[in-house]
Formats: sequence, structure tokens, C-alpha cells
Amino acid sequence: MDFKRSDFPESFLFGAATAAYQIEGHQFGGAGPTHWDTFAAGTGNVVRAEDGAVACDHYHRFAEDLDLLKDAGMDAYRFSTSWARVMPDGRTPNAEGLDYYDRLVDAMLERGLKPFQTLYHWELPAALADKGGWMNRDTCDYFGDFTDVITDRIGDRVAAIATINEPWCISYLSHFLGHHAPGLKDIRATARAMHHINLAHGIGMTRLRAKGMKNCGVVLNFDHTEPQDDSPSAAKAATTWDAIMNRWFIEAITKGTYPAEALAGLAPHMPAGWADDKGKDRQPKAFHSVNKNTRPKISAEDTGVRTQMTSAEGPGDKTQMGWEMYPDGLRSFLPRLSRDYIGDMPIYVTENGMAWDDRVENGAVYDPERIQFVSDHIAATKKAIDEGANVQGFFYWSLLDNYEWAFGYEKRFGMIHVDFETLKRTPKASYHALKAAIAR
Ligand code: FCB
Repeated sequence: MDFKRSDFPESFLFGAATAAYQIEGHQFGGAGPTHWDTFAAGTGNVVRAEDGAVACDHYHRFAEDLDLLKDAGMDAYRFSTSWARVMPDGRTPNAEGLDYYDRLVDAMLERGLKPFQTLYHWELPAALADKGGWMNRDTCDYFGDFTDVITDRIGDRVAAIATINEPWCISYLSHFLGHHAPGLKDIRATARAMHHINLAHGIGMTRLRAKGMKNCGVVLNFDHTEPQDDSPSAAKAATTWDAIMNRWFIEAITKGTYPAEALAGLAPHMPAGWADDKGKDRQPKAFHSVNKNTRPKISAEDTGVRTQMTSAEGPGDKTQMGWEMYPDGLRSFLPRLSRDYIGDMPIYVTENGMAWDDRVENGAVYDPERIQFVSDHIAATKKAIDEGANVQGFFYWSLLDNYEWAFGYEKRFGMIHVDFETLKRTPKASYHALKAAIAR
């Protein structure tokens, strides 16, 4: 890789990220069913109908995984705490689940790794999905209670806490585009989820602050959107897409408003009284986190009844996901975030990575494409810092090959290969390259 640690400020953190349902093995430790188990069991939702029952069995193998993280010279580990493990029915604490996160955090500290916790990374307890999930306003209060329970147990030892991972994916991608659990294509459900997820963030943040937690934030995913062509309709569609994906959540959180371009379509479907919540999702934070992967090109399709937006990938080289590799998107977005929304507040790149069809040959995985990808994105992060963004850390997605949601175990994002038959871990060439760069 072309960079060295000394290119960055001394306090800059290098780490890797994972999420509970994607790695832990959800069948272990008394966790309750989640809406991802429901979604996976349906027809045609997930490749081969795979679920997270065993995943990487990180639940039993976390010591080995944290050793690998430490041996790479990493400073921090971004992990998430499964709501359904901590509270199997969404409401009642599970001692076994709490003990597990206790051991996990201690194991990080024993290895000198800073624990970066995400409270909610998508596995909604099925019992709450039965009550309407994110369409139900009560879920926001229940999320607050979950925040209290897990923070009472591990909050004294974590270095940072993010409330929610990627509100756009939880709401729009899952309730309007139907790609993720609960797999809906329902604009009324979408409008509710888009509002409630902001409210849940605000409630979670209030609970954290009441406990004196300092380093709290949220993880948002942004994509650098561009019109597909020069037409006025594509320009308008790109602006609308940007408002829904990039502005809806950050503006609610920092300004207490929703962008007019997004409300134009969503307002008729919003829950009653939504405007009175204005400001409840506006909470002071210590940091913002950005997940960044690709560059959608947006166009408008005239159906004859109404105009609808479509998103396609840009022209550059693609990853195994079919996503365009576009490091300049990260370079341009980080300063935009500082300039337009958060000023000097610290930012962490909490996820950046690529999937590739990696294979073990002679005991090793050769992945030069990923080495280039990481090198380019870390260089883009450096440029963003030079342009004024207060970026304080970079987490590769992901530490391990894992359960990639609707793609099952087919897409490999890890810097460590996992054989899903034997669960053997094999660090890839990119792991070794990143380790060498961090040591320089
Ligand atoms: C992000 C998710 C993460 C992973 C990567 C590829 O949107 O937060 O869980 O699936 O994409």
C-alpha cells in the first residue's frame, strides 16, 4: 500500500469493522429470533436462503479474531451489540448475552484495542417486528431501553458508541426498495421508518447522555450521487436521491429539518404529528461516522403516471458486488459533511471496503485488487483531511468474510478469509499489506 501511518496525525486510529448478526452465530447464547431470520427463510430474499445462525462463529472464536486484529497493528475494533442477543424478545434482558459482550469488550481491552460499539446494526428482534418494527413508534422507546441495558453493562469500557448503523438502509432500502428485511416496497412504511429511525437515534442519544457517555455518534452511509445524463429530469432525480439518501438523516440530526425535495414525495405518507417531533432527533454528538462505498448514477423514468427514480452504477471498475470503485467520492464527501453540517466535529470512516471472489490457494489468498482499493481510499481520506475534514480514524469493512445480508455468504469483504465449511481463518495478502503500511 502506498501510505504509511506517519502520513496521519498521531492520534489517528486504524481499525476494522464487523456487525453482530454477520459474524457471531446467532443460534448461540440464547439470542432471540430476528427479522433477518424471518427474511432469510422467505423465498428468494437471500442467496440460497442463508442466514446468520452460525456465520463465522465469532461467538466462540472471538479471541482468535481479536488476536489477528492486534497482530495487524490495529488500534480499534468496530463491533455491534445485537439487540436480540441482549433482549431476545426485544424487552427482556438475557444474562448470557450480556455476559458475552462483557467478555468481548474485556478481550479487546486486554489486547489494547479500543472498543467502538454500534448499538443497532440491523437485527431487529422478531417480537418487535411482529408489532410493526420500525413502522411502530414504540420501537423507538424500546430501543432507548435496550440502550440503557447494554450501556449499564459495558458502557464503562467502550471508547465510542454509535446509535444506529445506516438509517437509509434500515428505512429506504428495506421498506421502499425491498432489498433488506423486512423486504417491503411500501411508501407509507418507508416514510414511517425514515422518521422513526431518526427519533430512535435521538432517544438513544438522550439515554446515553443521561448516563454521562461522552463519545457518542451515529453511522450514516453516503453516496456521491450524480445524474445519469444531461437531462433536466435526471438532474432533478439526482437531487431528490441526494435529499433522501444523503441529507434526510444528517439534516434531521444536525438541524431538526427534513429536505423539501424528499418531503415532496414522502409528506403525504408520514405518520401523524411527525412535524411536532422536530428537534427531538437533533442531539449534540461527539462524532459522526461515515460509511462509503460507491457512486450511483441517478435517472428519472417516466411511467406515464408519475416519474420514478432509478439508480445505476457509474462507469468505473466494479467490485464483486457490482459496485463502482470511486475513491474520489470519499474525498469529496468528507469535507462536504464538515462544511455543510458538522463543522469541526470528529469524523470516523467506520466502513470502507470491497468484496472480491477470493480463494485460498496454497494456504494463501492473493487479493491485489483489494490492496489497491484500500490504498486508494486511505489516500482519499488523507486528501479529505487536507481539505479540512476532521477525520480521526479509518475502519476497513470487514475484518472477516461474513454474512453479507441478502447475498448470503457469497460476497467476500474480509481482510481475513473464512472457510464457511471449516470456519478456518486465513489472512489475505491485503491484511499483510495493511499491517506493513500501519507499521511504517
Ligand atoms: C454496509 C453495512 C455492512 C456491510 C457492508 C458491505 O452497508 O453496514 O453491514 O454489509 O455494507
